[in-house]
Amino acid sequence: MAGVVSTGGASMAVLTGKSIIVGITGGIAAYKMGETVRALVQAGANVRVIMTRAAEEFVTPLTFQTLSGNPVSRHTFDLTEESQIGHIRLADEADAVLIAPATANVIAKLAMGMADDLLTTVVLATQSPVLIAPAMNVHMYENPVVAENLARLVALGRTVIEPDTGFLACGYEGPGRLPDADVLLDEVSAALTAKDLSDSRVLVTAGPTWEPLDPVRHIANRSSGKMGYALARVAQRRGADVTLVSGPSALTPPRGVDLIRVTTAREMEDAVMRRAVAADVVIMAAAVGDYRPTVRAGRKIKRTRDEIELKLVRNPDILASISTLPGTRVLVGFAAETNDVVAHARRKLQAKGVHLMVANDVTAPDAGFDVDTNVVTLIERSGRVDGLDTMSKDDVASAILDRVRSLVASQQPAPVAARRVRRRR
Ligand code: CTP
Repeated sequence: MAGVVSTGGASMAVLTGKSIIVGITGGIAAYKMGETVRALVQAGANVRVIMTRAAEEFVTPLTFQTLSGNPVSRHTFDLTEESQIGHIRLADEADAVLIAPATANVIAKLAMGMADDLLTTVVLATQSPVLIAPAMNVHMYENPVVAENLARLVALGRTVIEPDTGFLACGYEGPGRLPDADVLLDEVSAALTAKDLSDSRVLVTAGPTWEPLDPVRHIANRSSGKMGYALARVAQRRGADVTLVSGPSALTPPRGVDLIRVTTAREMEDAVMRRAVAADVVIMAAAVGDYRPTVRAGRKIKRTRDEIELKLVRNPDILASISTLPGTRVLVGFAAETNDVVAHARRKLQAKGVHLMVANDVTAPDAGFDVDTNVVTLIERSGRVDGLDTMSKDDVASAILDRVRSLVASQQPAPVAARRVRRRR
């Protein structure tokens, strides 16, 4: 849909019904905030925009009033505004305050505890999380006094959203760009999410693997990585220390996760096996290529023959290998099936020694590859089976992580794979 901000498949359910104050200050990036306000409203939030006087030099309050569906607050001592919704009520009702773009001037005022306009007054009065997204010229951003003010705000419990690096409106290049709306929404969602996985190190795999045939071709599958990226994003939001091992994917990795990019199944195996020992949870959402060409041609295979035969050899089963590692961790597998979904998934759960198998029929509408929704059945080693309705991949991720959390709490030792793991190289 034109103009709709992609949230990377995220449903942002956590924003539904929440009151979010968006504070807009006087930087050129103020013009980008229309998208963020609109996306917050689309995610179900009640958005109240506060603009500073300088912000009005760049954009008009009418823009944000139209997009938020609420009057824009501007002046602390405006009798009409105060009678509609007073500044203390604004501060009290907010579930979160997002200040974006935040100028160096406003950052300094916030760091000093000043309250000389409506926005800074509301920030002082609120007890909700405050997120600050600096956006300015690179030299201003790197000025030690700005860095010191930001560090002070972090020490005071405020969240500072790091600016993007790139071409800036002032003509310079470097850090100082306001992040896109989906990043800002993700940060607000994270601020509103309980950190119930903060003691867990979670390793997630995502995407397909590519098995090269020659320098220009490979065997791949249709996985986009959306489910694995959603798991990494939601786990990180819930406070986990997340490592994401990703096969080739066009998706933007969630901020704050340790991203390891791999191409082939064997590269994925190396990356995962090295890190799995230290993980409390391993979630294999990747669609690992089962076979690879026996020979990788050094040069491009030419179109000279009418028929050619490809010989393939089986790749290592990464999930089954993890279950043989020493130590305890919760293991989650995915079973992408086209028929007899639950039966196949149960068999894989036993064979690969996992605690929880997430089964889905990849041929079902709204499920499987490259869509933002999924329909899964969660099958546990204990015998518990939960069929979930169609939901966004972020919500599926949340449901999986809820189960993972209770499995971690019950600290079951990792079951050893039922069959011997054959590692072929
Ligand atoms: N998996 C893995 N290593 C492989 C193949 C699969 O770790 N070489 C993992 C997947 O990441 C997934 C689970 O095993 O979590 C099941 O993958 P799936 O493709 O459904 O099953 P396969 O074991 O490949 O069996 P089949 O293709 O015959 O259905």
